[in-house]
Amino acid sequence: MSSYFSKRSGSQLAKSTLPYLILGSTTIIISGIALLYTFQCSLIYTANYPKGSRKHVPKPSDYGMNYISLVLETRDDVKIRAYVCKRIEGASTRPTVLMLHGTSGNMGHRLPIARKFFKDFKCNVMLVSYRGYGKSKGSPSEKGLRLDAQAALDYIKQDSILKDTKLIVFGQALGGAVALDLVSRNESKVDALIIENTFLSIPKIIPHIAPNLRYLTFLCSEIWPSENYITKLQTIPILFLSGLKDEIVPPQHMKILYELANTSGGKMIQEIENGSHHDTVSQSDYFPKIGEFFIRMLGEEFC
Ligand SMILES: *[C@@H]1O[C@H](CO)[C@@H](O)[C@H](O)[C@H]1NC(C)=O
Ligand SMILES: *[C@@H]1O[C@H](CO)[C@@H](O)[C@H](O)[C@H]1NC(C)=O
Ligand SMILES: *[C@@H]1O[C@H](CO)[C@@H](O)[C@H](O)[C@H]1NC(C)=O
Repeated sequence: MSSYFSKRSGSQLAKSTLPYLILGSTTIIISGIALLYTFQCSLIYTANYPKGSRKHVPKPSDYGMNYISLVLETRDDVKIRAYVCKRIEGASTRPTVLMLHGTSGNMGHRLPIARKFFKDFKCNVMLVSYRGYGKSKGSPSEKGLRLDAQAALDYIKQDSILKDTKLIVFGQALGGAVALDLVSRNESKVDALIIENTFLSIPKIIPHIAPNLRYLTFLCSEIWPSENYITKLQTIPILFLSGLKDEIVPPQHMKILYELANTSGGKMIQEIENGSHHDTVSQSDYFPKIGEFFIRMLGEEFC
């Protein structure tokens, strides 16, 4: 009896629920895709990592640099935060470095790098936290970050001292994509470009980071097509800093970007033998290689 019952109930279950199961799993797949589409921004822009990054933003004074803290208003009215560290002496005669950060943390986490540019290379430095990062308002997206970088450039170009200094745009990883995008639209306003461990595009990096999602890359609304922007540059000198132990962005991406660049200003690829994705900057040969680029491409004044 009990076995008959369960058998009958089993087959009934199969007959009556199969369509719902199919419908159900289709719904799950569709909503999974929708979620992926909606939440890809939170997968790509990890502004909450490391923990506390939306609250705690270290200050340049923690690193011995004088600074002003700014609220920039982007063209779509988002208020983002920035630091400007001007040299006390001769600011107008020294280059300015605009730093565009990678996908985690905020501008404050890059102050040790800013200090190198400020103290060792005697540059003015501007750092910006993209929308949705640190204490900047809004939430990140490709379209938005573009406007954030634009707001930083606009600021520099209206500042009475910085506007006439040589400008170097420096982007790490995602920041390299932001930098390429910005410079491809404003090449005449910028004197040199440095990118570090940057990818060809988001769809091309996904198979390396998340192999299970490789067939879903067509759903990407965030593209960051650096491989296209690099080919638009015509005159600017470019430095490619490539960590050969990068476990996130295959060094091959940097190599291809380097090969695609066709700029009359010259290009230089510096491979950092022991550099992984996050610690390329802390390798001992990193800043000497930037120094070499400055001297070779921009002249003695940069040492
Ligand atoms: C950079 O290019 C954009 C798009 O062409 C333009 O709107 C903007 O004014 C330029 N920025 C500067 C500082 O000239
Ligand atoms: C590189 O730039 C030069 C000068 O602008 C141009 O003549 C040449 O066709 C370009 N090469 C490629 C591969 O785009
Ligand atoms: C890379 O690491 C190896 C092993 O620790 C070391 O011998 C080598 O000097 C390092 N290379 C550079 C350029 O720092």
